[in-house]
This record gives sequence, C-alpha cells and structure tokens, in this order.
Amino acid sequence: MPTNVTDPEGLVPDRVDTDFHAADFVVVANRLPVDKETLPDGSVRWKRSPGGLVTALEPILRSQTGAWVGWSGVPDSSEHPVVDGLQLRAVPLSATEINEYYEGFSNATLWPLYHDVLVKPEYHREWWNTYVEVNRRFAEAASDAASEGAMVWVQDYQLQLVPKMLRMLRPDLKIGFFLHIPFPPVELFMQLPWRTEIVEGLLGADLIGFHLPGGAQNFLYLARRLAGQATSKGSVGVRSKFGVVQVGFRNVRVGAFPISIDSGALDQTSRSKKIRDRAARIREELGNPSTIMLGVDRLDYTKGIDVRLQALSELLAEKRIDPQDMVMIQLATPSRERVDSYIQMRAGIEQLVGNINGMYGEVAHQVVQYLHRPVERDELIAFFVAADVMLVTPLRDGMNLVAKEYVACRSDLGGALVLSEFTGAAAELRSAYQANPYDLDGVKDAIVAAVEQAPEDGRKRMRSLRRQVLAHDVSRWAQSFLGVLANTSETTPSGNRGVDLVEDGADDDNGQ
Ligand code: ADP
Ligand code: G6P
Repeated sequence: MPTNVTDPEGLVPDRVDTDFHAADFVVVANRLPVDKETLPDGSVRWKRSPGGLVTALEPILRSQTGAWVGWSGVPDSSEHPVVDGLQLRAVPLSATEINEYYEGFSNATLWPLYHDVLVKPEYHREWWNTYVEVNRRFAEAASDAASEGAMVWVQDYQLQLVPKMLRMLRPDLKIGFFLHIPFPPVELFMQLPWRTEIVEGLLGADLIGFHLPGGAQNFLYLARRLAGQATSKGSVGVRSKFGVVQVGFRNVRVGAFPISIDSGALDQTSRSKKIRDRAARIREELGNPSTIMLGVDRLDYTKGIDVRLQALSELLAEKRIDPQDMVMIQLATPSRERVDSYIQMRAGIEQLVGNINGMYGEVAHQVVQYLHRPVERDELIAFFVAADVMLVTPLRDGMNLVAKEYVACRSDLGGALVLSEFTGAAAELRSAYQANPYDLDGVKDAIVAAVEQAPEDGRKRMRSLRRQVLAHDVSRWAQSFLGVLANTSETTPSGNRGVDLVEDGADDDNGQ
C-alpha cells in the first residue's frame, strides 16, 4: 500500500509506491532526488539529496512524465517514493556495496582521478568488481523501468558501465549518458587499470555528453586509442571523427553540453518580499557589516574551501581587510563522511576556521561563520541575496552550479562573484573576478577587487553575468541534449559531420 510521507523542502514524496508502469523517459542516476532518513523516533523522512546533479535534473523531471532510477542513500532500502507524480525506482545497495561501489570505486578511485588527482586515487580489484555488479543492477532496473523504444538518460561517473550493459539487455532503447564531473586529461585517465572497460561501457550510449569541449576531445582520443585496440581481441573497431565515434555499425555522438540551473525560477523566488526581508535580517543578525562574503559547497576537497580561508587569513594579517567590518559565511553540506580524504579535509578546514576566529574574532563577532549542514532552499536564496562577495574557488569542478545560482539571485545587480578559472562555469561567466586557485596572491587580489568594486562596474559585470545565466538555463541544456539524442540513428547519413563539440553556452561572448 502507498504510504503518505511529507518533506519540508519542496521535493515532496506523495507516497511510497509498489506498482509501476513502464515509462517513455527514464533518468538513471546513482542517487534518487530524495534521500531517506530514519529519525530517532523511528519515523521516516525523505529530504532533498545533496549535489548539483539533483539540482539540475529535478526541474527537468518535474516538467515531463518519466521515471527516475536510483539509490535512496541508505543500506538495503527498496521503497519507491513517488514525488509529484514522478515514479522513483529505488535500487537497493547493501552496506558492503555502499562501501566498495559508492565510497570506494566511485569516490576514492574515480572522483579523485577525474579531479586532477587532488588526492591519490586508490585502485582495488574488489572495489572494481562491486562497481561492475552494481552497474549491472542499475542497468537491469533501467531496463525494467523503460517502455519499448524509450529514451534512457544515464548520469555520471558512478554508472559508466550502464550504457553498454543496458544496450545488451535492450537494443530498442535510445541511450544517452552525461558526465557531471570533468573528464580527465588522457595521461591521468590512462592510470586506471580498467580504462578500456570504462570507455567501452560509455560507448554503449547513442550520445555521450560532457560539460566542456576539452572533456569531449579527451574522450574521443581515448575511444580511438583504447576501444580501437579491442579489435585484435575480437571486439568491434572504433573510428572517431568530428564528434562521432563509429562502433561497428553504430554511431556514437560525443558533444559538449554545459549544464545549468532553473535560473528563471530562482530569479523569481529571490525577488519575493519574504526572501528580501530574510536577507536584510541576516545582515542585521551579523551586526550590519560592510561586507558579507559567502561560500556554499558540499564539504569536498575539490571545492577549494581551504584556498578561500587561507586567502582571507592572509588579507586579515596584512590588514587589507578589516575583521571588524566583514563576515565570511561558509555553508558546508556534509558529504561522503566515511571516506578518508574527506575526514582529513574536514579537520583541516575546521582548524583554519578556528585559527581565523581565534586570531581576529571578538566575543560578540566571529569573522567566519561556519555551518556544517545543508540549509533549506529559501534560506540559501536569502544568503545569496545578502552576500556582497560570493567565493567560488574550486581547484577543479565540472561546472559549479553555486556560481550560477548566485548570479540568478541578483536581480538587484548587486554583489560580486569571485570565480576559480578551473570550474566549468568560468568558460561562461567571464565577467566574474576570475582567479587561479593555486595562485594565492591572485585569489587575494580578486577578493579585494570584488570587495572594493565601484558600484557602476559591479552592476555592469552582474548584468553581463545574468544575461548568460538567464538565457542558458537547465531546460535549454536538457532540450539541447535530448534533441540530439532523439535524432541519433544507427548509421551515419552521408555528409553528417556529427555533433558540434561546442553546444550553446560555453562560447558565447558575454562581454566585460
Ligand atoms: P556539486 O554538485 O559538486 O555539489 P554544484 O555547485 O554544482 O556542486 O552543486 C551544488 C548544489 O548543492 C547547488 O544546487 C547548491 O545550492 C547546493 N548546496 C551546496 N551547499 C549547500 C548547503 N550548505 N545547503 C544547501 N544546499 C547546498
Ligand atoms: C556531484 C556528483 C553527483 C553527486 C553529488 C553529491 O554533483 O556529480 O553525482 O550526486 O556530487 O554527491 P553524493 O556522493 O552525495 O551523491
């Protein structure tokens, strides 16, 4: 029997379902858009899952009927909540699978490998075996969820083997794959003992999307080099050209599709009186400082939270910033808390926060306000509206939706964005104060420039940033990807040069 459950955060599971009908459109992602939480009194609550993938895809799934196949975030759960009529199909994972597939191969092997080896990737054969097994389970769940000839959209690095496995089960389907994180340089990818299997797994799709043309180029090179090699072992040959890889008789399109957010909806919400009032109250509660700086991230070593804290610490020591007249708020969602590198990074960041507050704070005035928990959507929007300077300083990030969210919330043309060059968003948000996160002096100068910007210059920059973010929203991203996927066919029509490696967005001239 369906059970009614409620959620305070907007993603509201109506009930938990047991009977399904096959869907024409299926999203397959490691996580469902909602996470199951059992409260101390034994009752169950579903809350929004963390991360940019859910932020981006949730409005797409709301706008069309379909099914979402994924994991509920806890061991051994196979309840299927229904959110706004959307069928969620839970794929159960055991505690061992969570350890070896999710925390292990996905987040201690692939995540660091694809993010510039910021920490050393670990290669364990048993983790790989579990990754294969779990990918097979996701492929089977997707196959069950999809109607004849359906479109199935597989998401992200946790499920790179699913396209090939699913094609073997269901050759009738149109299969797309999108990678939400950077695709690494060839020399780094070549470290992976299972590099050929991963490339062949992805080549099961009809269309493979990356955020940036560089990722697509890296993949095309690897497809030729690795999957092509398989010919001698009896597999099909691979030829790649102009964004099309020919795998036997099939054509696989490869392209760049920079992801975005539901910018119109954020813009609207951020204009409401309720949010404006809350933003003003946040400033008051902080003692009306001249400058509020803000960081909003999952607590992840790729995000460069330490970089911005280090920069702030030096600016305070050099008296370029007055500690009495500013506050930095760092909102950090807990993430992958049992993975070693995350445990170590958290300790380092909390120590930096403590050092800065110990050195420059007063009893009644903390320089850094650090919240280690997710905040509700409306509260987050109020923080964006209140912040004078948004600090986005990743060492590497596929896109970074937070940067776009900040811009979408600034209809007042106020605020300034400090943005790492090593985010996907940097290709589009050229009017931000960009900096190389490895160059601490450069980051400090960018922060000071943002704090001291002349109001007219600030408005000009923000206007230009907003033009880009409002015009290139997540619905345009999805339409562009799904439009290409719908038009893929088994053989290359003569003269078809394939998908342009640059989709709309990344190359627009949005001026300075
Ligand atoms: P990632 O996907 O790596 O986490 P993104 O910046 O692309 O990074 O997306 C993060 C998403 O999570 C954004 O929608 C952002 O608003 C949300 N988010 C990040 N930190 C918090 C937080 N502390 N509270 C609530 N939402 C958060
Ligand atoms: C990034 C990844 C997503 C992931 C999210 C949150 O956005 O690209 O695939 O879901 O981080 O991470 P988590 O490990 O909590 O799912």
